Amino acid sequence: MADSAINDAFVEFDRVQKSYDGENLVVKDLNLSLPKGEFLTMLGPSGSGKTTCLMMLAGFETATHGEIRLDGREINNIPPHKRGIGMVFQNYALFPHMTIAENLSFPLEVRKFGKSEREAKIKRALDMVEMGSFGSRRPAQLSGGQQQRVALARALVFEPELVLMDEPLGALDKQLREKMQFEITHLAHTLGITTVYVTHDQTEALTMSDRVAVFDDGRIQQLAPPDKLYEEPENSFVAQFIGENNTLEGVVKEINNGVALVQLDGGELIDAKPINVSKPGERTRVSIRPERVEYNKERMQEGAHTLKAEVLEFIYMGDIFRTRLRVAGNDEFVVKTRNAPDQVRLKPGEQIEIGWLPEDCRALDA
Ligand SMILES: Nc1ncnc2c1ncn2[C@@H]1O[C@H](COP(=O)(O)OP(=O)(O)O)[C@@H](O)[C@H]1O
Ligand SMILES: [Mg+2]
Repeated sequence: MADSAINDAFVEFDRVQKSYDGENLVVKDLNLSLPKGEFLTMLGPSGSGKTTCLMMLAGFETATHGEIRLDGREINNIPPHKRGIGMVFQNYALFPHMTIAENLSFPLEVRKFGKSEREAKIKRALDMVEMGSFGSRRPAQLSGGQQQRVALARALVFEPELVLMDEPLGALDKQLREKMQFEITHLAHTLGITTVYVTHDQTEALTMSDRVAVFDDGRIQQLAPPDKLYEEPENSFVAQFIGENNTLEGVVKEINNGVALVQLDGGELIDAKPINVSKPGERTRVSIRPERVEYNKERMQEGAHTLKAEVLEFIYMGDIFRTRLRVAGNDEFVVKTRNAPDQVRLKPGEQIEIGWLPEDCRALDA
């Protein structure tokens, strides 16, 4: 709670739970606060409860328990159109029978803006997404990316302070998706809009967000800025879900001065940073990022911990070498090394020694 409580919170979920059938909780105990202007992403596998959380914030679903607040005011019983929230969804299509300008006019008419004010706002919103000359076209006459830009303009046209986006780029190809990712974050930051963004794509979450809430099974597993999530995962789920990760299983032998001595299942002893293990006898998954592992003796850092390994595969990828190893019984141990003139190239079957710094190695829940 301490982590998620923010004094000047703009959006707050306070002990929120949701059940659709009166039996199973799909959102279990959500505590989350966003300050004004933050870009927060809810990231997690399908079915983890992200859309449900967004729908409760938008007002299309009611919370079974707990309170949702916007700018200090409880909004549980306020209907969607009175919450002043802009929305963009993957399947929340434009109205096909209306022109682009009419599509943008709609949320303004609902909010009782007059004609001249509507025209000025529509022009501004379309210019913002570089669609200024498309006002008189119909959605079917635009490409997928253009339609998505119009959907974004429609969400922003009434100048909401909060915008919710649920997988808005899911239907676009990779190149366009990357361009739109940049445009959305740029617009949100320039306009000072608070954004709650939902995706199952970790790269999208890491590149766009101020903070990311990693969801699994109706709970936030970790809430942190992107670099912290990647470098300091607090549990095995986050370590596995964000980026590539190596795990070695074993048992905690002792914990002294912030260092856990772990006996791997193959018998090897290694040091690791105890994250969510607390006492000897506990099973653990030790986690190490592929780029933190070194096999070049010349480059091995002082204090590095070493283990024997067998090379199973060595792939030249241009900028990096990707090596798959057998380490302590794990055949999927991956090492990534930057391509450099003096970097050693390995061959399958070679027996080598690998090493890493104990602080790069985290003892997590099994
Ligand atoms: N309208 C609904 N009625 C009943 N169950 C639902 C409904 N919407 C979602 N669920 C269930 O709630 C869980 C969470 O779904 P959802 O919030 O859509 O997750 P996500 O967006 O992370 O994929 C899933 O098990 C899903 O089947
Ligand atoms: Mg969803």
